[in-house]
Amino acid sequence: MPPSDATAGPVSQALARLVGDGALRFDALQAEAARELDRVATGLQPAPTGLMARLLRSRPAPVPGVYLVGHVGRGKTMLMDLFFSAVPLAEKRRVHFHEFMDEMHAGIAAFRRSAQGKAANADPVAAVTRPLLQSTRLLCLDEFQVQDITNAMLLGRLFDRLFAAGVTIVATSNTAPDDLYADGLNRQLVLPFIAALKRHVAVVPLEGPDDYRRLKFAGERVFRFGTGPEIDAEMDRLWLRLTGGLAGEPATLASLGRTIAVPRAAMGAARFDFAALCDSPLGARDYVRLSHAYDAVMVEHVPQFDRTRSNAAKRFILLVDTLYDRGVRLLASFAVPLDELAGDDRTRAEFARCVSRLMEMQSADYLERAERPLHATAD
Ligand SMILES: Nc1ncnc2c1ncn2[C@@H]1O[C@H](COP(=O)(O)OP(=O)(O)OP(=O)(O)O)[C@@H](O)[C@H]1O
Ligand SMILES: [Mg+2]
Repeated sequence: MPPSDATAGPVSQALARLVGDGALRFDALQAEAARELDRVATGLQPAPTGLMARLLRSRPAPVPGVYLVGHVGRGKTMLMDLFFSAVPLAEKRRVHFHEFMDEMHAGIAAFRRSAQGKAANADPVAAVTRPLLQSTRLLCLDEFQVQDITNAMLLGRLFDRLFAAGVTIVATSNTAPDDLYADGLNRQLVLPFIAALKRHVAVVPLEGPDDYRRLKFAGERVFRFGTGPEIDAEMDRLWLRLTGGLAGEPATLASLGRTIAVPRAAMGAARFDFAALCDSPLGARDYVRLSHAYDAVMVEHVPQFDRTRSNAAKRFILLVDTLYDRGVRLLASFAVPLDELAGDDRTRAEFARCVSRLMEMQSADYLERAERPLHATAD
């Protein structure tokens, strides 16, 4: 489709614009998936208000969702994000699947501790879904998967309520609905949920030959050493290569009542100055959120560490561990070479594993590996 095709739906148009700008390669399967997402975006119009609402006296008709499924790096998250931006609703939410489930479990636990939760007829699932249903007509879930029976059972009960209330689900996953929780213990208990899911979403496969994430990093040097305008210019170049030429925009990540400010984000990558990421009061949970939200994190101006910077050093170590565990790519400028990163003996001992991981994180094996490890949970 040419970029100027004004009759195309909003997701197709956004995709074509990025292809036209050279930020993305044309991919026929992605274009096809975008057309399915156009259907959903066009169907999800703001609810009528005022007289119209009183005349209709009902919620808008439910719009079946989409379940994008395929191997890693095929562009599922990228498409879901384009779709999410294109939906003209305020009552929409995009969240990483693990974070969503964490939130539900935390809500249920809190309800059980409350006075209402101790009542004989207490229904914790109803209690956690009520506020969700009030504020959400579209729920986008990134990296959907079912790993254990507790989550599987909860999912069934949650989704029954979401579907009954007409909430549209758009999800990305590496696993087709029929293969969810395959070979899991008591799998038959999950089958009604799978059947309900399939009734409410169009399953759209995205199985092109290319892992774009892998292609992006092939042959790339991700670390720079030294300070000054030349190094900064190199980092700018690296960033544009990563985003296909997009400068990026500020973004925020919400995590259980906290907000993490991301100075610049584009195409699955986030860019920070070291001070903003490790010299400010961020903690383990924030770094996990970051590693769920982005494929690549750029950190500029990493200093040499010594005892006077021990808090920032601890945070940096935690950040590197979190990104490493999740296979997230790190791009960074360091003031000094890695073997001088720790400026005194005590700091050197603390940094031993971090430096070893940093060494590995520059390697082609790490950068181009196709499979990312499953997530550690947020706790
Ligand atoms: N058509 C394309 N041309 C160039 N780059 C692309 C294209 N599609 C996706 N990418 C880039 O490839 C990377 C991987 O895409 P994305 O994160 O959407 O993959 P995914 O299918 O969600 O993978 P995973 O299953 O691992 O989550 C992103 O940086 C994205 O911007
Ligand atoms: Mg993804």
